[in-house]
Amino acid sequence: MIRIAILSASVRTGRRSHRTALFLKRFIQERQLAEVDLIDLAEYDFPVFHERLKSLEPKPPVAVEFARRIVSADGVIIVTPEYNGGYPAALKNVVDLLYDEWHRKPVAICTNSDGSFGGMQVITSLQYSLWKIRAWTVPALFPIPKLATTFDENGIPAEPEAMEKRAGKFLDELLWCIKAKALMAAQG
Ligand SMILES: Cc1cc2nc3c(=O)[nH]c(=O)nc-3n(C[C@H](O)[C@H](O)[C@H](O)COP(=O)(O)O)c2cc1C
Repeated sequence: MIRIAILSASVRTGRRSHRTALFLKRFIQERQLAEVDLIDLAEYDFPVFHERLKSLEPKPPVAVEFARRIVSADGVIIVTPEYNGGYPAALKNVVDLLYDEWHRKPVAICTNSDGSFGGMQVITSLQYSLWKIRAWTVPALFPIPKLATTFDENGIPAEPEAMEKRAGKFLDELLWCIKAKALMAAQG
């Protein structure tokens, strides 16, 4: 079965974008679209890394474990908040930690904000960083606006039908890329 990692990028006390990660996890599991590994940066509570993992000595076991989870995923969904028009430092910390691990990894970006635009300003900077490290950024948008009222604390949407329709389109694009990559790999 396809494995999708959901990287929940807010480590903020009282964070709300994690609700989106919980929604996506349940959405994927209920439809048996893939196995889901929810990677929560708040749980890792990483320090700022002084080097990329491949050059870091000694290698912290938790960082090695984080890398393993990214490597073993067929595709990654990054659920990120928008902070001052960009993505959070905690996310940049782990994007830069890895290098080969991101290579040709299908990555779909889900942006979040309390405002009306759903964190759309993050797309350009995050997509560019991922492109620079040779990830496969999936051309799909899933902006989540007005987070405070869009989901409850468990990720249950206020308007399930509309949210599920949007999530389905977003997932379709990621799954297509994952399957296209698998086909290419099978052909050698
Ligand atoms: C440092 C900081 C900067 C923020 N900047 C923006 C912003 O530029 N645009 C916006 O719509 N919301 C902004 N917000 C509000 C977030 O969208 C809001 O906190 C939302 O719930 C997503 O972040 P969270 O997952 O950390 O809760 C900011 C929040 C913080 C803490």
